[in-house]
Amino acid sequence: MKSQFEVYLRLKPSNNQSQNAMQYQIYQNKKLQVLLPKHVKFGLINNSRDNLDFNFTHVFDQKSSQEHVFTNVTTPVINSFLDGYNATIFAYGQTGSGKTYTMSGAETWQLRGIIPRALSYIFDEIDKRNKFEYKIYISFMEIYNENAYDLLEKKHLESPLEQWNKIALYEDDQNNIHLKNLSIHQCNNEQEGIDLLMMGNFIRQVSSTPMNQSSSRSHCIFTVTLEGYDTTSETCFVSKLHLVDLAGSERISKSQVEGNLLNEAKYINLSLTYLEQVIIALNERMKGANRQHIPYRNSLMTTLLKDSLGGNCKTVMIATISSENDNIEESLSTLRFSQRVGQLENEIRRNEKVDLEAVVKRLEQEKLVLIRELEQYQRGGASTSSNKKIQSQQQNLLPQTNGTPISQKEIQEKVELYLNERIPTLDVKSIEETQKCFEAMKDLYNTRMKEYVTELTFISEKLQKYDEILTRKKEQSSFLEQKENSSPEAEIYRRNESPQITFKKKANQ
Ligand SMILES: Nc1ncnc2c1ncn2[C@@H]1O[C@H](COP(=O)(O)OP(=O)(O)O)[C@@H](O)[C@H]1O
Ligand SMILES: [Mg+2]
Repeated sequence: MKSQFEVYLRLKPSNNQSQNAMQYQIYQNKKLQVLLPKHVKFGLINNSRDNLDFNFTHVFDQKSSQEHVFTNVTTPVINSFLDGYNATIFAYGQTGSGKTYTMSGAETWQLRGIIPRALSYIFDEIDKRNKFEYKIYISFMEIYNENAYDLLEKKHLESPLEQWNKIALYEDDQNNIHLKNLSIHQCNNEQEGIDLLMMGNFIRQVSSTPMNQSSSRSHCIFTVTLEGYDTTSETCFVSKLHLVDLAGSERISKSQVEGNLLNEAKYINLSLTYLEQVIIALNERMKGANRQHIPYRNSLMTTLLKDSLGGNCKTVMIATISSENDNIEESLSTLRFSQRVGQLENEIRRNEKVDLEAVVKRLEQEKLVLIRELEQYQRGGASTSSNKKIQSQQQNLLPQTNGTPISQKEIQEKVELYLNERIPTLDVKSIEETQKCFEAMKDLYNTRMKEYVTELTFISEKLQKYDEILTRKKEQSSFLEQKENSSPEAEIYRRNESPQITFKKKANQ
């Protein structure tokens, strides 16, 4: 199933109402038209245009509430995640434009963002879906200077980030990425999920050192893993929801940065540059260019989000921009990037597989029933009530031929084929069927015996006749000898020397 990337735009409320505000128009909640200030206009290659248009799935204006954003962006994505599809929502924009506000929220409960709202929604929904049993796991990591760290490791509260274990990545034969040093926490309700989110955010703040002063320089990935066990069909699915708060997208000019900051800027810009390269490569491939290689491996973030960007994942981007003209260049850069992302599509499929645990459980139950039944038979137990119960249970549990109980006629035919050595083995699927086979054998044996008895009677009658003929022949010969072998009677006896004994041919042979 194809899934087009959805790209949303959120405008951060302006701090002042001065002339410094960005001039723009929103059309039908889907299009943003930006009026270009002179200095920007003259910087453009084609400077004949006064404005630029950008299209989105939806544009959230400065007044859009957290709840409104959540309902429009997240509900459909999470529904598909709950159905077994991978999903990613990522926020992209310059520092201060509202990425963290959108994803995590502000201090008050009312202003909570997408992540806490998603957790409530997920737990509410799974309570309603009775066909499945669900397990939910949470992990939370931060990528800083091309290293990834676990934000849910309590030990990290006691030491600065530089001393933490880094998350190690390795890829298996099927190109699946596995992570070492990332804890995964089972989560039974909304509150436990919120506690984990708060703990992660707290660890992130506490770990701030001079080297990691600002959260705007790191990427954060909050991952919810859902395991759904279908209680009716021995199948299960696993789906992942990544909620990503990317580092600020601004290009820090070299003159502004020194030392560690330069190092950070290099890494942040590099990983966002690599993100852009991945998006460009995917775009080219979509437009039919022969692009086999997509450079996911160039940065940790693009490696980790490989599936979200060009794999089995429903992906949504929220571009956040400031509404000030001071930031217009950064805003235009975000808007342009978002248009490229909006052209992408992924091929998504439900991650379903056989629930081996459920199959093992069922087989073990069946084995127990069979062992108990066998014991009953060994003890020579007749059809007691418990025996009957086991039998009826077993009828439900054991697979029959074509899923329906095998008929007496089919059993007779099978046994007959076996006794006539037309099939090498007599396969039976249950004790009950074995019993039926024995009955069929007994019936067959009785019928055959009757036939043999009839045949034997017939043969013995023939033999008797033969005896009589022989005796008569002997008498005749002695009589003929006396008459010098000359009478016509003797000729008749000579021709019938060997009286034929015929056996009645059995119908089934
Ligand atoms: N849509 C919004 N409505 C109200 N306040 C906002 C909004 N977006 C951002 N803010 C505020 O602006 C500041 C910077 O936002 P933040 O989310 O931290 O930016 P970012 O994560 O992109 O660097 C915060 O104080 C935040 O509460
Ligand atoms: Mg932030």
